[in-house]
Amino acid sequence: MSADAVITVEGLAKDYGHLRAVDGIDFRVLRGKVFSFLGPNGAGKTTTVEILEGLRRATSGHLSVLGLDPWKHASELHRKVGVMPQGFRFFDKVTPREAVRYYARLFGVRTDPDALLRRVLLSDKADDTYDKLSGGQKQKLGVALAMVNDPELLFLDEPTTGLDPQARRAVWELLRELKNEGRTIFLTTHYLEEAEQLADWVAILNHGRIVTEGTPTELIEKHGEGPRLVLQASPELVSLLSQQARLGLTIRDGTIQIPIHQKAVLLDALNTVARSGLPWPEINTERDTLENVFISMVGEIDESGEVRGA
Ligand SMILES: Nc1ncnc2c1ncn2[C@@H]1O[C@H](COP(=O)(O)OP(=O)(O)OP(=O)(O)O)[C@@H](O)[C@H]1O
Ligand SMILES: [Mg+2]
Repeated sequence: MSADAVITVEGLAKDYGHLRAVDGIDFRVLRGKVFSFLGPNGAGKTTTVEILEGLRRATSGHLSVLGLDPWKHASELHRKVGVMPQGFRFFDKVTPREAVRYYARLFGVRTDPDALLRRVLLSDKADDTYDKLSGGQKQKLGVALAMVNDPELLFLDEPTTGLDPQARRAVWELLRELKNEGRTIFLTTHYLEEAEQLADWVAILNHGRIVTEGTPTELIEKHGEGPRLVLQASPELVSLLSQQARLGLTIRDGTIQIPIHQKAVLLDALNTVARSGLPWPEINTERDTLENVFISMVGEIDESGEVRGA
């Protein structure tokens, strides 16, 4: 095991009766990194997270979280990690300030509720009861409570689901700060842009198996189609461009796509377009996002049962 790994998982499986929710997965999470777990509904993300938190028992596999077996050493682990469960909720008549104090007493730590609530931009709601908070404010409280014990490792299960774009970016900023402080973050999300922005390492889970993992850039390079020139053109221009085999042109959704791995190819294509004198209503360059990769991978796996390019 590398000295840098705060989480090591080998052959993890979890059965709920006859349902195999997690089907033999291996991964490592390195210290100080943001590790993002992606996958469609029911993929097994929360099950895995809850096993790592020591809340659920694995059916089989070897696990180490901060050097501990999460099931056997759950109480020791709980002192060291911060947890925001999926769909976090709290008691209706408790205020954020009281909630932070309550958690601090539970952990036996000294915490300044004002400072903590300021960090999550919740100071102005410190004394409103939970049932008066908006969806986003409730989630910010969830993040605050995950931080009460100053944890070196945080598990955040969909912390930004349901937040408006501004509130989501505020949480991203907070997660970046937590990372800059050297904390490790295990983040599950359905927002691919969020993973692309924040994650050092992404693992895509589907039907309980990791179908691919890597840095966001690696995954886009490995599974995406590469940068391309996209233009809408008349049939005349299409036929002119088609004559140049080396452009590697394809036609998709009524637009021409030309891969631009080499600058020479891009310049050739543009020259042909310019010299033709034919109209071209729109010309753009495109590259894949993590979302494109995710949708094509998870979609294709479901259709064929095979993993493309993995
Ligand atoms: N306590 C449970 N008892 C039985 N089956 C469960 C239980 N919890 C989860 N499952 C099943 O296990 C599978 C994985 O669920 P899990 O909650 O881990 O998925 P997820 O990836 O977190 O999904 P989501 O994105 O919807 O949160 C699903 O088929 C789910 O129905
Ligand atoms: Mg879940």
